Amino acid sequence: MIKEIGTEIFKRSQASSKLFKKNFFSDLMMDWAMKREDVKVEMFRFVDVLPTLKTNGQISDHLREYFLASKADFPQAIQTALKAALSTSVTAGMTSATVKKNVSSMASVLITGEDSSRAQKKLKELWDSGYCFTVDILGEAVVSEAEAVDYQNRYLELARGLPKLAAEWKPCPLLEETSLGKIPRANVSVKPSSLYSQIDPVSFDKTVRGIKDKLRPILSEAVKNNCFVNIDMEQNDYREIIFTVCEEIFSEAEFVDYPHLGIVVQAYLKSAEEDLKRLIEFSQKRKAPLTIRLVKGAYWDYEIILAKQRNWPIPVFTKKPKTDISYEQCTKTLLDNYPKVIGAFASHNVRSLAYAMACAKENGIGKQDFELQTLYGMANNFKKAIWEMGYRIREYAPVGEMLPGMSYLVRRLLENTSNDGFLKQSGVDQKGMDELLRDPRELV
Ligand code: FAD
Ligand code: 2OP
Repeated sequence: MIKEIGTEIFKRSQASSKLFKKNFFSDLMMDWAMKREDVKVEMFRFVDVLPTLKTNGQISDHLREYFLASKADFPQAIQTALKAALSTSVTAGMTSATVKKNVSSMASVLITGEDSSRAQKKLKELWDSGYCFTVDILGEAVVSEAEAVDYQNRYLELARGLPKLAAEWKPCPLLEETSLGKIPRANVSVKPSSLYSQIDPVSFDKTVRGIKDKLRPILSEAVKNNCFVNIDMEQNDYREIIFTVCEEIFSEAEFVDYPHLGIVVQAYLKSAEEDLKRLIEFSQKRKAPLTIRLVKGAYWDYEIILAKQRNWPIPVFTKKPKTDISYEQCTKTLLDNYPKVIGAFASHNVRSLAYAMACAKENGIGKQDFELQTLYGMANNFKKAIWEMGYRIREYAPVGEMLPGMSYLVRRLLENTSNDGFLKQSGVDQKGMDELLRDPRELV
């Protein structure tokens, strides 16, 4: 059944679509980043610093430093083109402006809107086209409490404003009705590290208290206005903190029977099955089920580098099929435990999504009783196909400017250029359907 469903998705999808609109810099960057690891690192370092550069002069200095004077041995074609482009102050200015525009246009594909009014328009468009969403305010790892309070205020505004805005939209049963009752149209995703500047696994209790104190008013506002709140999972150092925050705050009298709360399990972690079982047990103790978003994990490169630096055991799988197998095992566990928990399967991998659809069907769980989730701007061709097949798709919709969104953008660039990634294998590498739908167990 998995292959049948996967084949249907492929057949309904348009021919492979490129993530970014054609432009010189991003084409070149993505092409070379896919071919050469050293080039990729320098390019992404440049993209990371770009939003902080104010003048064309600063940009051209950085282009020289990262692309011409770096240790990475850049392809001759890039070096020659760039040397010529930076050779006079006029052409250097033009090149810098073009590069900045190209990177901004790349970011705009992945960011729903820089400010709330532009984002609101896109959210309504999404709803009108038959997709629901979860809004994330771009930003993480805040460095001051003033910044954390600012994020808290923006989430409070969302929890108040979004339900009012969405109340005016036309009804859509697929997006708001389940066998367990209606789900809110308004849905937000929160990164704990945007709410507290002193996160430190060593000061565990203080950190948990600090995050809960910021989160509590947001949850109260969400309950009052009927808004779903999902707590995102971040790097592994924060996993125990985030789980503890959720277990404690979701058990408080005000929230223990609120059915619109979600949490994330990362399948790339060797602890994934254990994490999932812990959350299922916890959900059972509450008076309303939790939604569990199953992801593979967005911090893979970071976790590997950090563990090597510290000489600590690597917490994630290092073979891609192992992550895919873990994702499928967790999918089954999640669906086997419906309705103690509700499954939200977040992936752009057709095999992983088809597995979830097949498993739900086998368990007799209707299309309205679990959801599939994707990131705004990614895998649009598959998304449409899955929507046509009658499934609820929720888009993760980041809102904010490029500077606070840089870590998010770089994680997306890493995913899209990874040789092991499904999107590159299906889009750029044009691998065949049979290979893309293969059982990951055959690959280890
Ligand atoms: P695939 O191409 O099938 O898988 C790529 C993933 O496989 C990588 O991201 C990595 O996790 C893993 N991987 C890559 N190389 C290797 C390797 N050599 N060995 C082992 N594993 C490897 N991520 C979070 O961490 N926290 C969140 O809260 C979160 N929320 C999300 C919400 C939504 C709606 C979506 C769609 C994604 C979210 N993600 C989150 C991102 C997610 O974890 C993945 O990074 C992303 O979806 C890519 O995985 P895939 O299944 O789409 O693609
Ligand atoms: C990330 O920020 C989507 O939570 C995921 O990369």
